[in-house]
Amino acid sequence: MDQPTVPPDSEAPAPIDALEAMGTARSMRWLRSDPVPPALIDQVLWAATRASSPDNTQPWDFVVVQNADVRERIGRLFEDMPKARPAQRTGSPAPDTADATARRTREGVQNLVATLADVPVIIFVCGANLYPPDQPDITNMYSAVYAAAQNLIVAARALGLGAAFTTLHRWVEPGLRDLLAIPDDRTMAAMIPMGWPDRPFGPLTRRPLQEVVHHDQW
Ligand SMILES: Cc1cc2nc3c(=O)[nH]c(=O)nc-3n(C[C@H](O)[C@H](O)[C@H](O)COP(=O)(O)O)c2cc1C
Repeated sequence: MDQPTVPPDSEAPAPIDALEAMGTARSMRWLRSDPVPPALIDQVLWAATRASSPDNTQPWDFVVVQNADVRERIGRLFEDMPKARPAQRTGSPAPDTADATARRTREGVQNLVATLADVPVIIFVCGANLYPPDQPDITNMYSAVYAAAQNLIVAARALGLGAAFTTLHRWVEPGLRDLLAIPDDRTMAAMIPMGWPDRPFGPLTRRPLQEVVHHDQW
């Protein structure tokens, strides 16, 4: 597919550049229910499918849920999810850590789960374990599919859309697989709710370069 374009009469905000998008693409777990124009959804999916993969195997599929009835059913699946534990599954710092990102994660996950049925687009990123062909290794699948998911997140931010990389689907995976008719030989790798942001974007909290970069030698 050629790169999709946004119609000139679109009310979508002008895209920001890739570096600014990468620097401010906070996980957005507060999303408005307003619909997202199909041209923008195509653009983020296009960006996702530009990711690298071993031998260009492109082992990804995307289930894009917009139907209100299906979203409602997804929301219902999450109703029984334990309240306190989701943030721990993200690998975030312990709850007593006075860290703004961790706090945003804890509160955000609760909000996201409670409002899932109203999130206009929920994208499930799925992967096929097919590389190398003689002895497929699941790490190859995750590497490619997560690269695609990150491209998607950055593209969404560039277009003014909020999105969150999550693995929340794991809590209710059997029900989701059934509802979305996911083939048995595909892994559900990420669940990315997406819509117009209801909280500000902002700079990401990350370790500084000097802490993680080693020049010429470790
Ligand atoms: C593999 C992976 C799994 C994640 N799982 C979840 C999740 O289940 N729920 C969630 O809300 N965020 C999840 N996240 C998002 C991270 O929690 C988030 O990116 C991180 O805390 C930094 O916050 P920020 O994106 O706002 O800068 C996940 C991210 C990755 C890469």
